Amino acid sequence: MLIFNHVDFSYPNQPVFQDLNLQVEQGEFVFLIGKSGIGKSTLLKLIYMDCFPNSGYVQVGEFSSDSIKKKNIPFLRRKIGVIFQDFQLLNDRNVYDNLAFVLEVTGTPRKEIKRRIIHALSEVGLTHKQTNMPEELSGGEKQRVAIARAIINDPFLILADEPTGNLDPETADEILSILKKINSRGTSVIFATHNYELIRAYNAKILKLDNGKAVKVVLKKKEN
Ligand SMILES: Nc1ncnc2c1ncn2[C@@H]1O[C@H](COP(=O)(O)OP(=O)(O)O)[C@@H](O)[C@H]1O
Ligand SMILES: [Mg+2]
Repeated sequence: MLIFNHVDFSYPNQPVFQDLNLQVEQGEFVFLIGKSGIGKSTLLKLIYMDCFPNSGYVQVGEFSSDSIKKKNIPFLRRKIGVIFQDFQLLNDRNVYDNLAFVLEVTGTPRKEIKRRIIHALSEVGLTHKQTNMPEELSGGEKQRVAIARAIINDPFLILADEPTGNLDPETADEILSILKKINSRGTSVIFATHNYELIRAYNAKILKLDNGKAVKVVLKKKEN
C-alpha cells in the first residue's frame, strides 16, 4: 500500500532523509515518532506528494512519486485523509459546510453530500453540531470535525500529523479511539506524534525517525 524506496530528500540547505526505506501494509496502524525537526511532517508530505524525493521513490496505492502526473495528484489526495494539530477548519463556515466544501469541489450531487456528511459526523459523534461554527466547538470537537472531513471520501489511508498536540490527555485518548475504530474497518492510519503516553496505551507498529538528519527507521513492537 505504501513504500518508501531509497528515498533521499532535502529542502534547500536542509537534508532530511538519506536512503529512507519503509513499508506500510493496507489496514496497518503506525505510530511515527522521533524528535521535533527530525522529519515527521516531511515524511507525511512525501506521502501526499506535497514534496518529492530527490532520489528514490514513494509508492502510495497505485501512484508512484516518480511517474505521477501533476493532474493526478488531486486524485491521490482524495484517497488520503489528512489531519493536523491545528485542525485547519474554515472558520467562516459551520461544521456542515466545512465538510460540504470538500465534496462540492469535486461536483458531488447534493443528496450524496448530505448522506456522506451525516455518515461522517455520526462516525465521530457530532451529528448534533452540524450548524455550529468552529469557534463554538472545543478543541476535541474541532479535531473530530477534521476527522469527519478526512474520512468523507472514504480514504484508504489517514495521515495524522500530531493530531493530539493541542489536546488534553483525555481528549487525546478519544481522538485515538476514533482513529482506531476507523482503522479497524480497514483504513490504514499513520499517526505522527511525540506523545509517548498515547503510544504506550495502544499496541501498534512504531516507526522511529532517528540519527539526526541521516534518517534510520527502526521498527519495533510494544508489549502492550
Ligand atoms: N518548507 C521547509 N523549508 C525548509 N526547511 C524545512 C521546511 N519544512 C521543514 N523544514 C526543516 O526540515 C526538517 C524536518 O522538519 P519537519 O518534517 O517539520 O520535522 P518534524 O515534523 O519531525 O518536527 C527540520 O529541520 C525543519 O526545520
Ligand atoms: Mg511536524
